[in-house]
Formats: sequence, structure tokens, C-alpha cells
Amino acid sequence: MNVLLTGGCGYIGSHVAVVLMSAGHEVVIVDNLTNSRRDVVDKIAEIGGRPPSFYQGDVGDVEFIRDVIRRHRIDSVIHLAGFKSVGESVQLPLKYYQNNVCGALGLLQAMEAESVSNLVFSSSATIYGNPQYLPVDEAHPQHVINAYGRSKLHIEEMLRDVCISRPSLGAICLRYFNPVGAHHSGLIGDHPRGIPNNLMPYVVQVASGEREFLNVFGGDYPTPDGTGVRDYIHVMDLAEGHVAALNHLSLSTGWHAFNLGTGKGYSVLEMIRAFEGGSGRAVPYKITARREGDVACAYADIQAATLGLNWKAKRTLEDMCSSAWFFQNHLSTRRQGSGR
Ligand code: NAD
Ligand code: UD1
Repeated sequence: MNVLLTGGCGYIGSHVAVVLMSAGHEVVIVDNLTNSRRDVVDKIAEIGGRPPSFYQGDVGDVEFIRDVIRRHRIDSVIHLAGFKSVGESVQLPLKYYQNNVCGALGLLQAMEAESVSNLVFSSSATIYGNPQYLPVDEAHPQHVINAYGRSKLHIEEMLRDVCISRPSLGAICLRYFNPVGAHHSGLIGDHPRGIPNNLMPYVVQVASGEREFLNVFGGDYPTPDGTGVRDYIHVMDLAEGHVAALNHLSLSTGWHAFNLGTGKGYSVLEMIRAFEGGSGRAVPYKITARREGDVACAYADIQAATLGLNWKAKRTLEDMCSSAWFFQNHLSTRRQGSGR
């Protein structure tokens, strides 16, 4: 299949690219590199044994996307391009609506004009808000509390409407829980610009000595050890979920949503311990105030994805920690080599 992968130079997109390539698909990446680096394309090529096609450009640019679709006879689109910082979305909501919602709108217009009728979209478990029950299934009420989450919800709703108006369209919203880890080669992984917002990249930087200690946001949650519990999923398992979604679309049309998680929650302290075990490095931490907007505990009901997509996460917490650490070591070696 010829697959247009938007945001393919990013953390998740680069892993989706290598999994698609190893499943025999032709991958065409569109990324404007606002949160990624051009050399990721070379790393994907190194892992995949052949280069993906790459275009630097904006997903909301309808004529540009139409041209890419025609040129590569695109059958299916996996849409990951978007901004993802919750804190920034609270400060700059219009930036998020412009890029995420208008970007998806432009992409959908281009797909409709070129009669492309399969779409996989990267949504987020953030749309469930504070869980009313656990595990969180796809029917859980939605309650977004920031512009980032609302941008995801708007896109999901836009896709519902478009599926009703175009019965030939198939759209799958994948609601990711907490992707962590990296490809086993150490060539691609989570490489955020600036101070990491998410737990795992911060832990990695503390272990490597780039940062002094980790702030554990809250030690008084109603969880077994008082710290927040999340459903961490290996990014390669998550990437494989996208191939499963594409397979599902070859047999179905209409709108669907699936959680991508493991169904198991780990606390921040459990993550620290697992990472220390996997890396052999200490991760000093201080328990500080809760982070605004955080929930105590969230993990996925994975039944729908298991049955509907015939997909299940199979990598362990140890794999997640050791691959993240291996990627960090590769990064440090490359930086030393380039004098950065
Ligand atoms: P990322 O920032 O690493 O990757 C996103 C990529 O999209 C970047 O390469 C960026 O340059 C590109 N991009 C952004 N806006 C663009 C535009 N208008 N046109 C073209 N390219 C554009 O983020 P990620 O962690 O890989 O996340 C990928 C997607 O998954 C995002 O939509 C994100 O909201 C969603 N998601 C991520 C997580 C997570 O924990 N990482 C969780 C839930 C959902
Ligand atoms: C966050 C976002 C979510 C987004 C996801 C992926 C918030 C409120 N939620 O999810 O919308 O989809 O990232 O981008 O920002 N933690 C620490 N110290 C840190 C960092 C995190 O203790 O330095 C804790 C958090 O309090 C939480 C856990 O680690 O309990 C996981 O945090 P994080 O990796 O940021 O993911 P989420 O908050 O689940």
C-alpha cells in the first residue's frame, strides 16, 4: 500500500514509518519539521534498508497535499502531524486550533478531492479527562480540559461527520495512552526540544546527568504509593497498532475509535525503579506539588483493540526503559562525535 504519513519525522511517526516499511508498505512522509529534524529520514532509511519519500511542508496546505497524493498514488493516510504540548496549548490555544484542527481540515479536503478513503488518526487518551471508572474504555465520557485535548476531540468529531457524508470513507481514531521507549537500534526515539514535559524523557536526562533530579509531581494521590499511575506503552507496540488499523480499514468503512495501551498502570516511583534497573543509573528525585491538570490514575481497557484490530502490546516495561536508555546513549555518542 502507498501510505502518506504526516508527522513522520516525529517521535511516534518515525517508529510508525519503520514498522510500515518492514510490513512492505511504501511510505511517503510529510513533515514541516517544526518539532523534528531532517536527519530522522536518514535514520528511518538506515533501519528500513531503503529511503522513504520525504516532503517538507504543511499538512494543512491543500494543494501541496493533493500533489503528493497524486504523485505517489496514495491509498491511505496516517495523520500524526500536530502540536502536543498541553501547557503551551493553554497559553496559546489558537496556535493549537490553527495547526491541529485546520491542519486536519486541509488534509481531509485534499483526501476528499483526490478520493482517498482510508485514514488513521492519532488521538489521545487525554480526551477522557479524569477517569470516572477504570480501566477506561472507548465509551467513557469525554471531558477535555485544555486546548490540546479539545483539538483532538474536534478532529475526532470532524471525522465522524465526514464519515457520515462519505460512506466510502474509513477513519480510525487511535487514542494513545503513554508512549515511551525507542526502536532497538537506538537510531530513533523521543528527542524533545528544550525541557521535556513528559516523564520518560525527563527520567532519561536525569539518569544521563543532563539534569540534576526529577520532580515527581505529587506524592499524595489515592494510588498505592501516592504517585500518579499511567498506562505506558512501548512506542514500537504503538506503531504496530497503526499497521493493524490499516489492515482493519482494508475490510471496513465508517468511523471507529480504539484505545492503544497495555491495560496495566505503573506509578511514577515504579517507573523510576524500573528505569534504574534497566540502565544501572540512579535517578534522584524530589516529590513536589501536583501538576495542574494531572489525573491520579489512567489505564486502558484494551478489549476493543484486541478483538477489533487483532493487536495487543507485547513488549515489557523493561523493554521500554532499556530502549529509551539505549537511544539516549546513542544520542550522547553522536553529539560527542559532532562536537555538540
Ligand atoms: P512529535 O512532535 O514528535 O511529532 C509530530 C510531528 O509533526 C513533528 O515532526 C512535527 O514537525 C510535525 N508537524 C507538526 N505540525 C505539522 C504540520 N502542520 N504540518 C506538517 N508537520 C507538522 O509528536 P509525537 O509524540 O510523535 O506525536 C505524534 C502525534 O501523536 C501528535 O499528533 C500527538 O498529539 C499525538 N499523541 C502523542 C502522544 C505522546 O505521548 N507522544 C500521546 C497522545 C497523542
Ligand atoms: C501528558 C498530557 C497528555 C498528553 C501526554 C502525551 C498533561 C496533563 N497530560 O500525559 O495530555 O497526551 O502527556 O504528550 O500534561 N511526571 C512527573 N514528573 C515529570 C513529568 C511527569 O512526576 O517531570 C508524572 C506526571 O505527574 C504523571 C506521569 O509522570 O503522573 C506521566 O506524565 P506525562 O509523561 O507528562 O504524561 P501524562 O500526564 O499522562
